[in-house]
Amino acid sequence: MKQKITKAVFPVAGLGSRFLPATKATAKEMLPVVDKPLIQYAVEEAVAAGITDMVFITGRHKRAIEDHFDKAYELEATLEAAGKNDLLRIVQEVVPKHVNCIYIRQAEPLGLGHAVLCAKPVVQDEPFAVLLADDLIDGEPPIVRQMVEVFRRHQCSILGVQDVPHEHTGQYGIVSSTNLEKDIERVLGIVEKPKPDVAPSTLAVVGRYILTPRIFHHLENVQPGAGGEIQLTDGIAALMLEEQLLAYRFNGIRYDCGSKLGYLQAQVAFALKHEELRAGFSEYLKTVVRC
Ligand code: UTP
Repeated sequence: MKQKITKAVFPVAGLGSRFLPATKATAKEMLPVVDKPLIQYAVEEAVAAGITDMVFITGRHKRAIEDHFDKAYELEATLEAAGKNDLLRIVQEVVPKHVNCIYIRQAEPLGLGHAVLCAKPVVQDEPFAVLLADDLIDGEPPIVRQMVEVFRRHQCSILGVQDVPHEHTGQYGIVSSTNLEKDIERVLGIVEKPKPDVAPSTLAVVGRYILTPRIFHHLENVQPGAGGEIQLTDGIAALMLEEQLLAYRFNGIRYDCGSKLGYLQAQVAFALKHEELRAGFSEYLKTVVRC
C-alpha cells in the first residue's frame, strides 16, 4: 500500500547566532518577512501539501512559537470589541482548525540530526517531511507539495536540491548523483560542507526533505561530526546505503533567511509581491537605487 505524508517536522531549536542580538530572546524562525514570521510561511507550505500534524522541535525560545500557533483569547476579544474583523480573521487563520501542533523540546542544540531524531516518538514509523523555516522558498505549487508528489510516485526519501555557485559548496550538504528523470536525480553520495576543490558537484541540499522512518535508526548511531554536532547529512548518507534516495530540483526561488543578505532579499521580494505595499515600496526603491 502506498504511504502518505501526514507529518512535518520543523526544527526551530538552533541558536540563530548570525542574527544576534535579534535572536537573543526569540527564535530565528519568528523573524518576520514583511508581516509573517518565517515559521508561518513554512507551516502554510506544509498545509498546502495536505500535511495535518506539525511537529516543532523547540529550544530555549519555545514560548514565542507555541504562542504564535495557539489561540490568542485576549487579542481576539480586543479586536472583536473594536470591530477590527479583518485583523481578527488574520489572527484566527494563522493555522487552520484541522491542523495539530505538537511541541517537543530539544534540551541542547546538539545539531540538526539530533533535532530531527527528537521527533521520533511522534513520527514513529511513518515517512515525514522536514522543513527548515529559515530557507524561505517561493514556489507554485509550494515546494513540499511538489516533493510529496514525487514521494507519491517513488515512495522513498527525497532531498530538495538546487545548484549553488561553486565557491559556495562549503555552506551546504552536496550530493553526487545520476539523472533519473526530469528534475529528479538518484543520489550516489552526500557530503557535508565540502570545500569547492573537493566538492563532488554543485548540487546543494536546501531545507526541504522527505524522509523514511529508517532515518531515526541511523541518527541514533551517527557520531558527532562537523562542529561536534549530530549532522542530518551523516544520517542521510547511512540511509542511502540501504534505501533508494532521490534528489529533487524544485521549481521555486529560495531565500536563505538564515543569512542577513538572504533575509533582506526575501523582504524586498515579498514586499514587491504584497498587494498593499507593492506600489509604494517600488517607488521608494527607485529613489534608493538612484542615489
Ligand atoms: P543552522 O545551521 O542555520 O543553525 O540550523 P542555527 O543555530 O539556527 O543558526 P546560526 O548558524 O547559529 O546562525 C539549521 C536549522 O536547524 C535547526 C535550526 O533552528 C535551523 O532551522 N537546528 C539546528 C535545531 O533545531 N537544533 C540544532 O541543534 C541545530
